[in-house]
Amino acid sequence: MELNSLFLNSWLVKNWKIALAALLVIALANFVRYITKLQRYTKIFEFSKHRKTLLDGEEYVGADFNSKGNKRAPDDTTPNNSYVPALKVDKHVPFNGATVTLPGGPKQFYELANNRRSVRSYSAKRIPPLELIEECIRAASTAPSGAHTEPWTFCVISDPNIKQHIREIIETEEEMNYAQRMHRQWTADLTPLRTNHIKPYLTDAPYLILVFKQIYGYLPNGERKQHYYNEISVAIATGILLCALQAAGLNSLVTTPLNCGLALRKLLARPENEKLLLLLPVGYAADDCVVPDLKRKALKEIMHLY
Ligand SMILES: Cc1cc2nc3c(=O)[nH]c(=O)nc-3n(C[C@H](O)[C@H](O)[C@H](O)COP(=O)(O)O)c2cc1C
Repeated sequence: MELNSLFLNSWLVKNWKIALAALLVIALANFVRYITKLQRYTKIFEFSKHRKTLLDGEEYVGADFNSKGNKRAPDDTTPNNSYVPALKVDKHVPFNGATVTLPGGPKQFYELANNRRSVRSYSAKRIPPLELIEECIRAASTAPSGAHTEPWTFCVISDPNIKQHIREIIETEEEMNYAQRMHRQWTADLTPLRTNHIKPYLTDAPYLILVFKQIYGYLPNGERKQHYYNEISVAIATGILLCALQAAGLNSLVTTPLNCGLALRKLLARPENEKLLLLLPVGYAADDCVVPDLKRKALKEIMHLY
C-alpha cells in the first residue's frame, strides 16, 4: 500500500506529460543526429568515389573546378567552345632552338650550380645593387608554368624596419615550431645544419625575397582564373632564381617559414590569392660564414638509363 502511494505521488507520475514531452524531444534530437550522420557518410562515400577516379598527379594541379563541376560527365553535351581560354595567343611563330648557350656548356653550368651553398650568415655591409636582384627575378620569370599562368609574385624587401618586423614574426613562430610543433625526429634531423629559431640573416641580409604562389588569378572581367600546378611552377621559377643569384655572385638560402604565411602576407598587404611559398635572404656571405660539409649524391645514384 505504501509502495503504491509512493508510486502515485512520484514526480514522474505527477508530471508524466512533461516527462513524455522530454522523451519525445530526445528522440527527435537523436533522429536529427542520425540523419545528419547519414548525410555525412553519403558525402564521404561520394568523395571517396570521386577520389578513386582522380587522375594520377591530379592532386598537384591546384585548380578549383568546384563551381563548374569537377569532371567531364559522359553525358555532358556542353559544347567545348562555350569555354573561353584564359590565355590569348594570336599565332604560333617559328622557333630556332636553343641559340644562347654557355661557352663551357652544361659542365660550366654544373660548376656554377655546384658552387651554390645555403648561406645563413650574411655581410650587412656589402649591399648588392638592386638592379642585380631585378635581373635575377627577370630570369626567374622565364620559368615554364602550368598553362602559362605565371603564378608567382616576388616581394623584395630592403627596408630595415620591415626586415625587423619579418624577423620578429618568424622567430616567434619558429620558437614554437622547434619547441612544440615539429616532430622530434625533424628537429633531430636539422641539428647537423645547426639551425634554430634565432635567424640573424633575416635582418643582416641586404635583401629578403618573399616568393608567393598565386593559387588563382583574375580574368579581365574579374572572374577567377585557374592557376594549374601553381606550386610546381613557382618552385621551378625559384630554382632559376637561385641559379641567377649564383651567376650574379650572390648568396641565398631557401627557407620555409612554418606557420608565418598569413602574418607575412598581411604585413606586405598581399592579396588573398597569394600564399607564401618561400623566403630567401639574399646578399654576400659574411667573412666568417661557415657551411656544413655536405656531400651530394653521385650521378649513378640519381640517374637510371633505359
Ligand atoms: C624546400 C626547402 C626548404 C628549406 N627550408 C629551410 C629552412 O626553413 N631553413 C633553413 O635554414 N634551410 C632550409 N633549406 C635549406 C636546406 O637545408 C639546404 O638546401 C640543404 O641543407 C642543402 O644544403 P645546400 O643548399 O648548401 O646545398 C630548405 C631547402 C629547401 C629546398
